[in-house]
Amino acid sequence: MKQINMYLDSLFYDQDPVLEEVLTSIKENGMRNISVSPASGKLLTMLVSLSGANNVLEIGALGGYSGICLAKGIGAEGKLTSLELDENFAKLAYSNLSKAGFGEQVSYMTGAALQSLEKLVEDQKRFDFFFIDADKENYENYLQVCIRLAESGALIVADNVLAGGSVADEEAQLKRHTEIMKKFNEMVANHPQLETILVPIGDGMTVSRVKK
Ligand SMILES: C[S@@+](CC[C@H](N)C(=O)[O-])C[C@H]1O[C@@H](n2cnc3c(N)ncnc32)[C@H](O)[C@@H]1O
Repeated sequence: MKQINMYLDSLFYDQDPVLEEVLTSIKENGMRNISVSPASGKLLTMLVSLSGANNVLEIGALGGYSGICLAKGIGAEGKLTSLELDENFAKLAYSNLSKAGFGEQVSYMTGAALQSLEKLVEDQKRFDFFFIDADKENYENYLQVCIRLAESGALIVADNVLAGGSVADEEAQLKRHTEIMKKFNEMVANHPQLETILVPIGDGMTVSRVKK
């Protein structure tokens, strides 16, 4: 997996100084770089752009790397709402998105994402693209609320679904999230309201289309 990702990142990622700066800022702030891989970020930009999404919801902002990739795919009128537990991370992400020229298009909701999601449901908000990349224990809960918030035909993308390859390889060392991700993948594969494929890029992304 590591070699394949190095190959993808070297061949298909177009160097972007703005994204490189985000990684530098994450390091300078003493945060762990658990942003999506460069090629995964490019896939996010392409999926948002190809689907014509205008109202994007991200769960898990960190330093804004995936936020910038998502924002690059939406048109000038599009909006990104990003949910992040840690206020300092959200501030850094906002500063990075502003530097990238997306400050007017992004808003952050801080605190536990499940609470923010309930607020969005209460406010009858709707989104046409979702990116789930926060605490793995809540992936199933996030998925359920995302479906409630989804426009018909919306895409729901979730990261880290291969858990380092351990969901598919019985010889591989089990990871903390192996069982959670196996269950999540089975759920999205068999969900009556979703049409799903798993793209083995980065640590694996499921791409689900909401059929309702
Ligand atoms: C893997 S990182 C996100 C990386 C980011 N999507 C990127 O690729 O640039 C996960 C983020 O989820 C946040 N997080 C963890 N638990 C959360 C929760 N319960 N609610 C909201 N955010 C949470 C963490 O603080 C962290 O910033």
